[in-house]
Amino acid sequence: MYPATVTGDRLCLRELTSEDLPVLTRLYGDPRVTRYLRFDALDAEAAAAKYEERRRTAFDAPRTRFEMAVTTPDDPAMVGTLGMTLEPPHHLSGWLNELVLVPEVWSRGYGSEALRLMIGLGFERLGLHRIWGLRRHDHPVTHGTITEAGMSQEGRMRDWVRTGGRWHDVVTYSVLRHEWDARRPSVTSARR
Ligand SMILES: CC(C)(COP(=O)(O)OP(=O)(O)OC[C@H]1O[C@@H](n2cnc3c(N)ncnc32)[C@H](O)[C@@H]1OP(=O)(O)O)[C@@H](O)C(=O)NCCC(=O)NCCS
Repeated sequence: MYPATVTGDRLCLRELTSEDLPVLTRLYGDPRVTRYLRFDALDAEAAAAKYEERRRTAFDAPRTRFEMAVTTPDDPAMVGTLGMTLEPPHHLSGWLNELVLVPEVWSRGYGSEALRLMIGLGFERLGLHRIWGLRRHDHPVTHGTITEAGMSQEGRMRDWVRTGGRWHDVVTYSVLRHEWDARRPSVTSARR
């Protein structure tokens, strides 16, 4: 599926373009933003390599990675990014990763909406059975962001991520297709 787009009330997801690279470089180079991610702050070269890899995998067939830009409906400029990887063996489980917004739009509930849009894409258009994600255990403010998107806390994985020269535990969350269907939030007017 390329290109994929998802339209919600306050946010949209679209494919990454080369115009997003300066925003990605700014985000991934900011230690305040990357503090709780899976990697330490990146220099411009490493950020560009990450962008190139994401663009490349968008054309895989079958496609198993959906690395999307988050925008507002009226402005194509990227305000964040979010990924979902379909996992083997069946590719019916999606792993949400690297939800990042530009600091100017933090604390507006955009994080939950972006997650809901990606979950809607996964269940309603890709036919997934299960979608899961995680946060660093020492980043508890995002518990509300994730549960507001309809996910339930599952458990804790020890020493799953290593950044800043240290190992960190992560807390995992998931939502199943039937749970999503029962709750079906109103912002998932997804279209291709
Ligand atoms: C995590 C994130 C996507 C949440 O989206 P959001 O729309 O801001 O979510 P919420 O409105 O629910 O607010 C989340 C809270 O966490 C805080 N927060 C998130 N990341 C933070 C960070 N790296 N450093 C300090 N505070 C952070 C926000 O400031 C906000 O605090 P508040 O409730 O006191 O205003 C966004 O804040 C962000 O991009 N953070 C940096 C990247 C990151 O940590 N991603 C991990 C996702 S698990």
